[in-house]
Amino acid sequence: MDQFVIEGGATLRGEIPVSGAKNAALPALAAALLTEEPVVLHRIPRVRDLATMANLLRHTGASVDTDGETLRIEARNLTHPEAPYETVKTMRASSLVLGPLVARCGRARVSMPGGCAIGTRPIDLHILGLEGLGARVTQTHGYIEAEAAGGLEGRKVTFGRITVTGTEDLLMAAVLARGTTVLENAAQEPEVQDLAAMLTKMGARIAGAGTPTITIEGVERLHGTEHTIIPDRIEAGTFLIAGALAGEDLAITGCDPAHLDALLEKMTACGINLKTGPDSVTVSRSPGFRAVDMTTKEHPGFPTDLQAQYMALMTQADGISLVTETIFENRFMHVPELMRMGASIRTDGRQAIVAGPRQLSGAQVMSSDLRASASLVLAALVARGTSIVDRVYHIDRGYEAIEQKLAAAGARISRVRG
Ligand code: UD1
Repeated sequence: MDQFVIEGGATLRGEIPVSGAKNAALPALAAALLTEEPVVLHRIPRVRDLATMANLLRHTGASVDTDGETLRIEARNLTHPEAPYETVKTMRASSLVLGPLVARCGRARVSMPGGCAIGTRPIDLHILGLEGLGARVTQTHGYIEAEAAGGLEGRKVTFGRITVTGTEDLLMAAVLARGTTVLENAAQEPEVQDLAAMLTKMGARIAGAGTPTITIEGVERLHGTEHTIIPDRIEAGTFLIAGALAGEDLAITGCDPAHLDALLEKMTACGINLKTGPDSVTVSRSPGFRAVDMTTKEHPGFPTDLQAQYMALMTQADGISLVTETIFENRFMHVPELMRMGASIRTDGRQAIVAGPRQLSGAQVMSSDLRASASLVLAALVARGTSIVDRVYHIDRGYEAIEQKLAAAGARISRVRG
């Protein structure tokens, strides 16, 4: 298993470019299943989850050709409308094919996700939503089977709680349903908006994406399209925090600052030095910056996917901060690892109290999930001495060549293949 070896204390300068958003690219690939015509997607990040999704599409019978950051997908004949256990167990977002496959083929079979490191994460809301659109859903042998032989029916679906991939799954199901679907209490994330923009280019009729109510007029068929994925706001946010910890005029480029509002507001409240341009943010280490409480929330709130990285930042802030995780249970697995590096953190259920600033010291630490690993890399950048971050396959799921991007800006980080 690969490791990162990181020598703390280096200053980050210059530019770090942001890749396309993993969480927008995943539903975009699934959406390509909705048409038999070719779909060309640009700015696809070269990360493991996207390779997994491409293989899943191939499994269903689609062809997927890769050329750098561009993918060409053609779903002419979908012979196997299913997501097998082997795929779902490595990537929960595999359930994103459920909606498009039922809409396109009248049936789909998707393995039930098992437990995962950051909580139980069921997909009951996807299932309830599809049932709402008239699908018959059964569960056998660890699989969910959905059937709508006569096609799906547009209806009103109210989500019991806000779900990002659930909203995307239902949106993709509804575009080919008969009549009007209204999704209430929908997720408002930029990734949902990007998917709606792509589907609209394919001929779908969608209003209200980016608000809690999305209305979809079903159409008979969709056509092919070409679409460029939005920048990855979580990757951008991770590098911004790296800059706040160790940067000197470090520019995070090719991002959309409007998608980073919640983080930029917090960093400004901390007293961190930021300069926002049209598609970049420049950040510098700001000695003596203040600790500020943070609570994760659905968009436009503070993203849970930046909670672990924010906590790494708070270990260096002056004062005490309360970090509250409201989206996922059990998403504090980075805490014991940060503590091994010298951080002062106490947790109580979904809350963590961080006392800073603490001089961290390099240690051998273990990645437990994608974003937790990113927080360990950030902590290692400011720790005294050498850190070894184990199991970086977690980070490879969602960050494109993170060690190369950081090293190009001056970080002393290398990958040891194992
Ligand atoms: C997506 C993102 C993930 C991010 C999360 C929250 C992708 C591929 N992944 O995950 O990076 O951390 O949004 O912003 O876009 N829930 C249920 N039943 C369901 C669905 C969800 O109870 O059917 C619960 C979950 O357990 C969780 C909460 O709802 O507690 C929100 O989850 P959800 O928004 O669905 O997360 P994902 O879409 O899986």
